[in-house]
Amino acid sequence: MSSKWTLALAVLLVICVTIHVEAKTKAWWETASFYQIYPRSFKDSDGDGVGDLKGVTSKLSYLKEIGIAATWLSPFLKSPMADFGYDISNFTEVDPLFGTMEDFEELMKKSKEQGVRIILDFVPNHSSDECEWFVKSAQNDPEYKDYYIWHPGRIVNGTRLVPNNWVSVFRGSAWEWHEGRQEYYLHQFHKKQPDFNFRNPKVREAMNNILRFWLNKGIDGFRVDAIYHAFEIAPDAEGNYPDEPRNDWTNDPDDYGYVHHIYTVDQPETPLLVYEWRQVLDQFQKDHGGDERILMVETWSPIEIVMEYYGNSTAEGAQIPFNFQMISYLYNDSDAYHYANLINEWLSKMPAGRTANWVVGNHDKNRVGSRFGPERMDMFNMLLLTLPGCSVTYNGEEIGMTDVWISWQETVDPQACNGVEEGYEYRSRDPARTPFQWSDELNAGFSTGNETWLPVSPDYKRDNLKRQRGISLSHLNIFKQLQLLRAENTLRDGEAEVKALNADVLAVKRSLYNDFTYITLMNIFDSVQTVNLNDIFSNLPIEFQYVVVTDKSIRRKGDKVSSTKVILLPKEAVVLKSTIKV
Ligand code: GLC
Ligand code: MG
Repeated sequence: MSSKWTLALAVLLVICVTIHVEAKTKAWWETASFYQIYPRSFKDSDGDGVGDLKGVTSKLSYLKEIGIAATWLSPFLKSPMADFGYDISNFTEVDPLFGTMEDFEELMKKSKEQGVRIILDFVPNHSSDECEWFVKSAQNDPEYKDYYIWHPGRIVNGTRLVPNNWVSVFRGSAWEWHEGRQEYYLHQFHKKQPDFNFRNPKVREAMNNILRFWLNKGIDGFRVDAIYHAFEIAPDAEGNYPDEPRNDWTNDPDDYGYVHHIYTVDQPETPLLVYEWRQVLDQFQKDHGGDERILMVETWSPIEIVMEYYGNSTAEGAQIPFNFQMISYLYNDSDAYHYANLINEWLSKMPAGRTANWVVGNHDKNRVGSRFGPERMDMFNMLLLTLPGCSVTYNGEEIGMTDVWISWQETVDPQACNGVEEGYEYRSRDPARTPFQWSDELNAGFSTGNETWLPVSPDYKRDNLKRQRGISLSHLNIFKQLQLLRAENTLRDGEAEVKALNADVLAVKRSLYNDFTYITLMNIFDSVQTVNLNDIFSNLPIEFQYVVVTDKSIRRKGDKVSSTKVILLPKEAVVLKSTIKV
């Protein structure tokens, strides 16, 4: 071959490689819309008033309808239900309340047919006190003796006292006396949720085996519960754990806020544990093929620590460390600058090459429509679904369900019941966990039973999925339109610029070379706003059209608008699309 041809070939090769790199296809999860199902409240198939796995299976086509790529299910494993499934007594068995392992296998089979992936809730910080491992640990069984955190307590003036001042998330001392073993055990949540000892290699191996068990069942990943609690500070040479320093905002020693949690959460070893699990997942993929399996981790930590869970240049971590910025730091009266700062903080602090994710609600927090007002429901769905990366929607948010008021007598959440009646409404997570409102039938179509485990919203005849199907600008239909947009190149692969036009209006610009530009606009408060998008964005095409509008708009889908003058009504949110590719 002449040297001219060799050179030409080499150039071609370089071009091909470059193109290939640029066109790197995204992994399935990077642009996925995730959906959290709280199985107790999603769909009851047998009329006992509690949702179950068969119920979930029967609604897979609904998940498909609303464009969900993967759903993470809150726990359905064997449990005495002290914390409604977050207290697991057998990590590889299905609780009869939710069904059988065959029901789970059927769910897996049907979900694969429908193309909706299943993510399991993995609860590694603690088990139930009824778990065989804890029972054996309490009996000092040599194999399990150090599976949990035990301490004999302190003897002061002849009286035995708890080891230190640590407080449980659900109120009261984090230490509980065990008559059998004659020692205290640590529980950072309910006393029926003893904390595992992650400094014991046997516990680590047991956890890896749980992961492998469920990977073998065909799941696509795990949501990891309460990971920031996994490690506590190591005991000193005498086996003691130090007190945590006092906070000055409460004098109630039973309140979780009584002490500053420097020894019980966010210990430096914890992200490394997640890196270890990621290796288990990656190894599984190597051995068994298939797509990437993912970890979504729950950590209520300062953002710098959350970012560590992504991994670093030498270790892969969780693909999705949940982004709780909007849950933790956004309020009803937050202005557009505040929204922009929170969003940009995540984007700028994220390590290079990682994918952003956006979460506004879950089963532990008040519903979005109750926190920010029902009028802002569509606005939040628009934001969540047009930002770059993955979105995570809590079941019911797509139809704008709001919190249901629940009397003290009907309250079941241990976080509320562990205390006195006063203030229970602030602690209770029940209002966001009520049955899904499918239709105007009995129990909102959730269950055919006489009773449901939590009351159904009194508004279900007006607010339900079935009715929203028939209303063109319902929350549901807006959600579905947004999901269709997410399939567009620009929303999948485009750049993002998030800016406030003024204190009232937030704008998210998504653009991609040689493609359409999209702009999401949110008028957060109650005044009419007239804005010029060129004030904050450069090189904008002049003409746009409305592609998603809400029932607050006087505009219709397809209407044209100039980028120099967009009028927004109070609490109006819209998505605009340029009429030409730029
Ligand atoms: C997580 C769960 C919550 C549970 C707690 C203890 O925060 O989301 O529902 O109570 O962990 O497992
Ligand atoms: Mg049932």
